[in-house]
Amino acid sequence: MNIIDIITKKKNKGVLSYNEIKYAVDGFLSLEVKDYQMSSLLMAIAINSMSDEEIFNLTKIMLDSGDKIDLSSIDGIKVDKHSTGGVGDKTTLVVAPLVASCGVPIAKMSGRGLGFTGGTIDKLESIKNFKTSITNEEFIKQVNNIGIAIVSQSGNLVPADKKIYALRDVTGTTESIPLIASSIMSKKIASGADKIVLDVKVGRGAFMKNIEDARKLSEIMIKIGKNFGKEVVALITNMDYPLGNTIGNALEVKEAIDTLNGKGEERFTRFCLIISAYMISIGKQIPIEDALDMATEKLNNKEGLNKFNELVKAQGGDINNIEMSNNKLELKSKKSGYITDINPVKLAKFANLLGAGRSKKEDIINHKVGIILNKKVNDEVKIDDTLLYVFCDNDIDIDELYDAFTISENNIDEVRIIYDIIR
Ligand code: URA
Repeated sequence: MNIIDIITKKKNKGVLSYNEIKYAVDGFLSLEVKDYQMSSLLMAIAINSMSDEEIFNLTKIMLDSGDKIDLSSIDGIKVDKHSTGGVGDKTTLVVAPLVASCGVPIAKMSGRGLGFTGGTIDKLESIKNFKTSITNEEFIKQVNNIGIAIVSQSGNLVPADKKIYALRDVTGTTESIPLIASSIMSKKIASGADKIVLDVKVGRGAFMKNIEDARKLSEIMIKIGKNFGKEVVALITNMDYPLGNTIGNALEVKEAIDTLNGKGEERFTRFCLIISAYMISIGKQIPIEDALDMATEKLNNKEGLNKFNELVKAQGGDINNIEMSNNKLELKSKKSGYITDINPVKLAKFANLLGAGRSKKEDIINHKVGIILNKKVNDEVKIDDTLLYVFCDNDIDIDELYDAFTISENNIDEVRIIYDIIR
């Protein structure tokens, strides 16, 4: 077998065998297949796609490249949740404790942000002393003790994905359905949960730009799950606008706490309750309406908030020590009317420039910086009303953020949160 023949076959729209895919992935890990050869194969896949069987094989080969977590010593049905990545997406920080407080064990391995999308682990690290790296034994023990743990993916969990993802990020091959599906599902299956709820984001602030592609991605991930004996539910959700009203790590943790305290932004709170309800429904095998009631009760009686506090304490964090930058700048409206658009990517890129995210894997995050939106889509605005606040370390010009807002005479139809649910 030879890598050039494999690349050529995919370039000519051929179907690769299990052995050919394995040759490429294993060869890339062992350095026999060079970066430029793998990049070329990834581009051929991104352009010509893969059959379902090729995607199953790629997922299995990636999964077998590293460790698999065994959660069998935790009682109950373990449910995981994964977002395909968005702007201001602090959903896990709210739904994980809410679901755990309903008695569904949450043994969660999360990732870091890359590009303009944020990552749960970076957010949690804004809490002073919060440990995101613990041993597998400590991880299982904590879930057995308090019903929840959120840690970063261990170094050897799907190493093939780590290496391939880093290459995709710099070769224009992130937005490919077979590559995204195998990347996400290999990690979810390796993380050991029995059932998985996928939040497949669609819109400007997501990898999938239209609902049709989001549906295709959801369907293939559900089929992969089935192949590995895992029940998967996919929710196709709107990422055309920022989620909630904060972007930036410490700010997002504070917003998650406010939400668990019943003081969250209304649309974001509703979104978290729906995701929680699907996790509870498949975890406890109860109807979705009952699961939604249960999640709502745990939000109202603050048991979800208490569970979050327990989680922070168990992982060494100090909940009273989440530091913000001192410098708070204000962007004031120059127009009056209705806010008809807020561009999430413009805000996220600005927040990343402040240091809230990375443009390279090695970049160090500044947890203290970020943006608080003071208005949301369809809000009325008057001249001099505050559109947003920027938390930053230095005095900077924030005028370019006006471009993120569209203010018009009339408001728009209500913004949908969830487009579809696929089982
Ligand atoms: N998230 C992942 O884990 N992998 C992708 O390819 C895209 C989003």
